[in-house]
Amino acid sequence: MSDDKERTVELHYEGGVLKLPVFTGTEGENTVELKTLLGSTGMTTLDPGFGNTASCSSKITYIDGAAGILRYRGYPIEDLAVHSTFLETAYLVIYGELPEPGQLKEFSDKLRDNADIPAEMGAFIDAMPRNGHPMALMASAVNTLAAYYADSADPGDEEQVELATIRLMAKLPTIASRIYRNSIGETPIDPDDSLDYVDNFIRMTFGDNAPTGELGDLFNKAVGMLLVLHADHELNCSTATVRVVGSSQADIFASVASGINALSGPSHGGANQAVLEMLEEIRDSGISIEDFLEKVKSREVRLMGFGHRVYKNFDPRSKEIKVLASQILDRDENPDELFALALKLEAAALEDSYFTERKLYPNVDFYTGVIYRTMGFPTNMFTVLFAIGRLPGWVAHYREQLHDPAFRIARPRQHYIGSAERRHPSQG
Ligand code: CMC
Repeated sequence: MSDDKERTVELHYEGGVLKLPVFTGTEGENTVELKTLLGSTGMTTLDPGFGNTASCSSKITYIDGAAGILRYRGYPIEDLAVHSTFLETAYLVIYGELPEPGQLKEFSDKLRDNADIPAEMGAFIDAMPRNGHPMALMASAVNTLAAYYADSADPGDEEQVELATIRLMAKLPTIASRIYRNSIGETPIDPDDSLDYVDNFIRMTFGDNAPTGELGDLFNKAVGMLLVLHADHELNCSTATVRVVGSSQADIFASVASGINALSGPSHGGANQAVLEMLEEIRDSGISIEDFLEKVKSREVRLMGFGHRVYKNFDPRSKEIKVLASQILDRDENPDELFALALKLEAAALEDSYFTERKLYPNVDFYTGVIYRTMGFPTNMFTVLFAIGRLPGWVAHYREQLHDPAFRIARPRQHYIGSAERRHPSQG
């Protein structure tokens, strides 16, 4: 943010004129600072869903929704998806730079050393309802990390925050795969420190059923790339939640658990599950794509996996994921039927003025579900995979906020439209 306070905009109101500073971001975007508005004019702003409000300055991720640009720490997502592993990307997002080989080894070794969870925590996860949604179980398990690891729960101690970062990154795949194994009635599998991060997660999840050889390599590459594509997305609902909860000085475990809960909704991370359910429903009901789109246009249903608050053009992540889906699902003469249906649905929507006029394009969730399904992940695990991918972003934002000189507890105002003062019945 530029500290050039020369540039201002003027707000003309009944009481006079207020000059408000304009800050220019790295990419030339302008932000009007409203800090003095209430004190000077007595007025607040109303911005439902914060569509127009920057609540902080951040150096982590840049998005240009109109141009379809996404960069982590300045690096285009297209380059990271192809040339960087998930651990390299996580390191970049959290610490600000791509790791040197020695730094990557140290980071990776620490994650291997911390991947186990305490036996009591394992028993706690095993005691949770096995048919419960894994996102609810995962959020609960992550919340308890502050109790098992109270020695890394102080946001005021940098070393503790660093230790908690490693513990979260190391243990989330272990927690997720244990929840999955329980849900299918199989014994949980302990982490194997001879495997890399993604392979270890796949093995803890699928055990001996994990694909090997060429297919195993393809699955590892695909899961890794999907995690990279989800690693951060600036102030989305779950990341904003992590920041809001963390702004009260809540520990990082509580803040990330809150982010997992925010992610679970179908308008956010839960959309990847909702897309697959939508495709299955279209297939099973036999409804034509044209008739389904009519239902969308009459607002009976939403076209899940389409539309985005920020992207008013193609979501760059969806382009990468579509290519990946083609590599995995179109490999033989017998293409995956849900992928084929998704392709037709996308094509029909993009020819329809309802979607083009509203600038509704496929988002990150449109094709992820069909890939995860082919790998054998059940539908309700899709959002869990999103959470594993998004963890570096949540952690990076929590940490950045701790060092922000402009940091204050998050406390929005409201526009009150309830009753004016009235007499209590006891007063006659
Ligand atoms: N299907 C049909 N109509 C839509 C859709 C959709 N998926 N998305 C937006 N619209 C319409 C909406 O009804 C409105 O029309 P009108 O102006 O006539 O009232 C217009 O487009 C603008 O939509 P909005 O609801 O004001 O947009 P928003 O920025 O508040 O919502 C969204 C963004 C992602 C919640 C929404 O597009 C949506 O519900 N999409 C489906 C769910 C989904 O795929 N979510 C994943 C988002 S990307 C990953 C993530 O964030 O986790």
